[in-house]
This record gives sequence, C-alpha cells and structure tokens, in this order.
Amino acid sequence: MNVRFRPALGAQDCHFIHQLIMSEVSTGHFDAGLLDPRASAGLMQNIQKMAATNTRLDSKGNEVPASIVMVDADGDKAGFGITTVLDLHDVKINEFWLAGIAPNQRRKGVMTALTKFLCDQLDERGIRIGARLLPASDGMRAVLINSGFLHVETLPSGHAFLIRKARPPS
Ligand SMILES: CC(C)(COP(=O)(O)OP(=O)(O)OC[C@H]1O[C@@H](n2cnc3c(N)ncnc32)[C@H](O)[C@@H]1OP(=O)(O)O)[C@@H](O)C(=O)NCCC(=O)NCCS
Repeated sequence: MNVRFRPALGAQDCHFIHQLIMSEVSTGHFDAGLLDPRASAGLMQNIQKMAATNTRLDSKGNEVPASIVMVDADGDKAGFGITTVLDLHDVKINEFWLAGIAPNQRRKGVMTALTKFLCDQLDERGIRIGARLLPASDGMRAVLINSGFLHVETLPSGHAFLIRKARPPS
C-alpha cells in the first residue's frame, strides 16, 4: 500500500474530517457534547481554522497551535490526525488530539503509519507527546501502545492519558 501524508487542502478535507468525527460520536470515540449542533458547528469552524492557520481556539477561547495531517492510501483519502498543545493542570504538552481512519480503509496499518510519521517528526525535535482516549477507543489505544505510548493515568474526565517520550537522537 502506498501511503502519503499531506496538509489539509480546503473544504473537501475539512468536510471529510468533520464527517468522520461526527460519525464516531455515537460509538463513543469522540465527545458526546458534539451532538449539540452548536458544538458540531464550532468543531467545523475549528477544523477550517486549523487548515488555514495551523491554530485553533481552545475551550477558554485562547488561540493555540494545532495542525492537521491528512493521509491518503493508494491515492484515496484515508484519514487524518491533528496535533495540538494541551494545557493539563497548568502544564503544557504536545497532544495527538483527534484522529480517524475512514471505515473502508481500516486494519491496513494506515493509523500506525500516521502515528509513526507524527512521532518521527516530534522525535527529531526532542518533543514528548500525549494523548487522551475515551474508554471506547480500544483500537486507537492499541495503535498508540504499539507505537511506544504508555498509559500514565486515567483522568477525572474518564479519559485514559497516554504519553510517549521522544526517542533520544541516535
Ligand atoms: C482506531 C483507528 C484510528 C485505527 O485505525 P487503523 O488504520 O484501522 O489502525 P491500524 O490498521 O494501524 O491498526 C494496527 C493494529 O492496531 C490494533 N487495532 C486497530 N484497530 C483496532 C480495533 N478496532 N480493535 C482492536 N484492535 C485494533 C490491531 O492490533 C491492528 O493490527 P491488526 O489489524 O494486524 O490486528 C480506526 O479504527 C478509527 O478511525 N476508529 C474510529 C475513530 C477513533 O477511534 N479514533 C480515535 C479516537 S481519538
């Protein structure tokens, strides 16, 4: 399989990301609050903002860095990953925030390849990366554990909190 990583390019990619996230809210992979039409519209605005400016608005309305990586498999749009900065107990860490693979492209190693791509970039800069997962997200947990993430704790919100330390430069 030929996997290609690229930035999000315009309305079609934004729509793909939004639709993929919204289709997995009822399965418990993304925040149930997105069922509120205003939250769903806000997500779309944030996706468009990230695609255009590499920033997003956090829950307090602050602008923080955020970037989208699209992944194509054998020429077809297959999925996305979004990295951002998480302010957790006043400690800022880089976060693998939102991610998904289209149903017809799953179990082919695409998310594993995307996770490696993102981690390799961060390793080069000596940056550790965290991820928060809802209890339903066993598949993503397996991908992250296989990619060197460790489960650190379960947060009061119920999210599993995983961290991957940057690999030391060789
Ligand atoms: C979870 C998800 C991202 C995995 O993407 P993927 O490209 O299918 O993952 P990979 O093919 O790289 O999986 C690699 C391995 O991880 C494990 N894995 C992946 N998905 C799994 C699942 N649903 N259940 C159990 N294990 C899973 C398997 O060990 C798999 O290897 P195998 O196929 O040889 O058994 C995808 O199923 C998805 O988008 N799900 C809905 C949205 C979601 O959960 N997003 C994450 C929340 S932030």
